[in-house]
Amino acid sequence: MTLPKTSVHSNPSPALTNIEQDSWEKLASALDLDKNRSTNVGFKTMIMASRTTTGADARTVVLRKVDAPQKYVWFHTDVRAEKVMQLEAFPDSTLLFWDDKEQIQLRLLVETHMHTKDYVADEHWQTLGFGSRKSYLSEYKPGSEQPGPYPGFPTHLGAGLPSAEESEAGRNNFAVIECRVLAMEYLHLSRDGQVRARFQYEPDSKMVWLAP
Ligand SMILES: Cc1cc2nc3c(=O)[nH]c(=O)nc-3n(C[C@H](O)[C@H](O)[C@H](O)COP(=O)(O)O)c2cc1C
Repeated sequence: MTLPKTSVHSNPSPALTNIEQDSWEKLASALDLDKNRSTNVGFKTMIMASRTTTGADARTVVLRKVDAPQKYVWFHTDVRAEKVMQLEAFPDSTLLFWDDKEQIQLRLLVETHMHTKDYVADEHWQTLGFGSRKSYLSEYKPGSEQPGPYPGFPTHLGAGLPSAEESEAGRNNFAVIECRVLAMEYLHLSRDGQVRARFQYEPDSKMVWLAP
């Protein structure tokens, strides 16, 4: 039997449009949660999955910026990190968000682009406090083997913060990963019935309900 294609198209139902807009709003509001240090982390962190020459890899990163109209998100990392090599070889990634309170999962299929020595990286660097900059002061490549525990910054800093001048040494290690969202998949868990939908932006725009 051929099913009618009423839900896939150029004229999506208002319910689909609302879910799509709400999802982007939730992503953007996660940045405010970050500033307020709220305990409801929502979409503040995500799992970023990558492809490797031998399989797949994944890790947690913090969401740093959202452009809902243009469908972009950004995160920060150390330019020497393993994930950077992986993304250089395979720029596509999946970003996975889970909001435990709202029981919503968002899965973003993205194409990444790295910024290191340009104005984009400069702009992001300027927004970072000294606490965040401290993590870019490591003398060693992230993931490199060490003879003992190493805190990820020069040990003389201890629990303190680097001075403005000291923190600038981290700029060379700082990378911004820009993620162009090609598609977003939404899943809401509920006893009343789950809701799953996909919003495709590239190459064509399309909104469609999915069976959970
Ligand atoms: C809550 C949390 C937030 C994290 N945020 C970041 C981040 O924003 N950027 C980052 O590079 N690593 C972040 N990390 C560390 C990564 O998960 C990972 O261990 C590290 O970046 C090395 O990953 P790689 O070897 O795959 O490059 C975070 C870890 C946790 C637990």
